[in-house]
Amino acid sequence: MSIAQNTQTAAKLRCIACGATPDSASQNFRCTACGDLLEFFFPGWTPGSQAFDPAALKSLWLNRRTSRDALDQSGVWRFRELLPHIPEEHTITLREGNTPLYRLPRCARATGVENLLAKHQGMNPTASFKDTGMTFAASAAHLRGFRWVACASTGNTSASMAAYAARGNMHSLVLIPDGKISWGKLSQSLDYGALTCQLRTDFDGCVRILNDLVRQKPVYLLNSVNPYRIEGQKTAAVELMEQLAWEPPDHIIVPGGNLGNSSAIGKALLEMRELELISRLPKLSIIQAHGANPFYRSVREFDGKKLEPMTADTLATAIRIGNPASWKKALRVLQATGGEVEEVSEIEIAAAKAEIGADGIGCEPASAVTLAGLKKLRRSGFVKPGEAVVLILTGHLLKDPDFTVNFHRGDLFTGTPGETEAAQSRYLQRPPVVLDANLEAVIAALDAAERNS
Ligand code: F0G
Repeated sequence: MSIAQNTQTAAKLRCIACGATPDSASQNFRCTACGDLLEFFFPGWTPGSQAFDPAALKSLWLNRRTSRDALDQSGVWRFRELLPHIPEEHTITLREGNTPLYRLPRCARATGVENLLAKHQGMNPTASFKDTGMTFAASAAHLRGFRWVACASTGNTSASMAAYAARGNMHSLVLIPDGKISWGKLSQSLDYGALTCQLRTDFDGCVRILNDLVRQKPVYLLNSVNPYRIEGQKTAAVELMEQLAWEPPDHIIVPGGNLGNSSAIGKALLEMRELELISRLPKLSIIQAHGANPFYRSVREFDGKKLEPMTADTLATAIRIGNPASWKKALRVLQATGGEVEEVSEIEIAAAKAEIGADGIGCEPASAVTLAGLKKLRRSGFVKPGEAVVLILTGHLLKDPDFTVNFHRGDLFTGTPGETEAAQSRYLQRPPVVLDANLEAVIAALDAAERNS
C-alpha cells in the first residue's frame, strides 16, 4: 500500500525556541536564526480540526498487521499517518518496532506496583530502541541522495545506523568514545560495514567533532537532533497504546541520556491526545544515572531554567552523556505530562538489571534505570501501588554481557567505593559454577541449589 501525502501528513519544521519555520533544515539541524533544535509539526492538526477519525485510524493500523507489505509489517511505518511523508521508493525498513509488552511479576512484587509492564524496545532488529528512529531518518537521508551518513554514539545509535545505511546502500561513519562502549555494540557497527572511529574522548567530545565535520563534508547527521529520528521514535508510544487497547497507563518511565527518546515518546503522547486517539496523558518520568545526571540537576536545582554540562561517568555506558542535546524538548514533555525526574546509583542500576533478568526478560544496564527509578518514585509516593506503570526497556541484555557477567561473579564493584554497599545485592548474583566433569559433582550442585531456592 503506498503512502499518500495529504493535508494531514504535510509536516513543517519549527524551531522549539524562537518558533521560526524554515522550509528545510541546515546540515546540523539547528535553527539558523537562534541555534536551537528543530521539530516537526503538522499544520493540519489544529485543535478541533478533526484531522482524522480516531476509530478509523485505529482499525486501519490494526488491519495492516495482516498485510504482506513490508511497510505495513514495520511497527514504525504502520503508523505513517502520524509521520511526515517519505516516498515509498526511499524507505528502508528491517520490520522494526512490533516489540512485546511483558508483565514483570517478580519486579511487581518487589516494587509493590501490581500492574507493572515493560515494553521491550531491545527486541528491535539491532536490539535497541534506536531502530524505530533510524528507519525513518535513514530513509530521509536516502530521499536526499546522501552517500554518507554519520553519528556520534555510545554504541546503540551507531549499531542501528550502520545496519540501516547498509540496507539503503549508503556509507556510514561512526564516532564512538574509545574504550567506553560495549563489545556487543562495537561488533555490530563493524559487521554492518561502518567506518568506525574510536575517538580518544567521551560521547560529548564525539558530538563536537561531528558537528564540525557536517559543516565541511556532505554527510547526513543521524543523531537525535535530526527531527526525523524523533518522528520515527514516536511510534513506540503509539504501538504501546495500541497494545493497551488505547487505555493509557498512569506512568511511563524512560531512561534519560541524550534525551531524544523521552522527547519522542512525550511528543507522541501529546499528539495522540490532540488527535483524540487517547483521552488522557500518562505521566512521563525520566531517570538518569547519578554519574550522568545533568538533566536531573537542571530540573531539581535550576527549575529547568538552564542545564550545566558535566563530565559524565557511569557503568551504564549507553547513557554516559554530560551535555544532552534534547534537554529542552524533554523538559517540555516532562512538564506537559506532569512527570518526575530521578537519579539512581550504580548499585541500584546493577540490582535492578538483575531483577529484570530474574523475570526472564533481561535488558542492558541503561534500561534498568527505569526499575531502579520506579523504586524511588514509589518511596516518594509519586507512584501509587494501584497505578499502572510501563517501563521502557531500551536495549537487549546481550548488548553488554561484560557488565552482566561481572555483576554475577561479584566483580562489578571490586575496588570501587561502592564495594561494601554492593554486597547487599549478593542475593541477586548467580555466578557460574566450575565443576569437575562428573555426574556426582553436577548432582551435588543441583541439590545445593534446590536447598537454597
Ligand atoms: N538506553 C539505551 C540502551 C541507549 O542506548 C540510550 C542512548 C538511552 C537509553 C538514552 O536515550 O539518549 O534518547 O535519552 N544511546 C545513544 C547512543 C546516546 O548513541 O546509542 P536518549
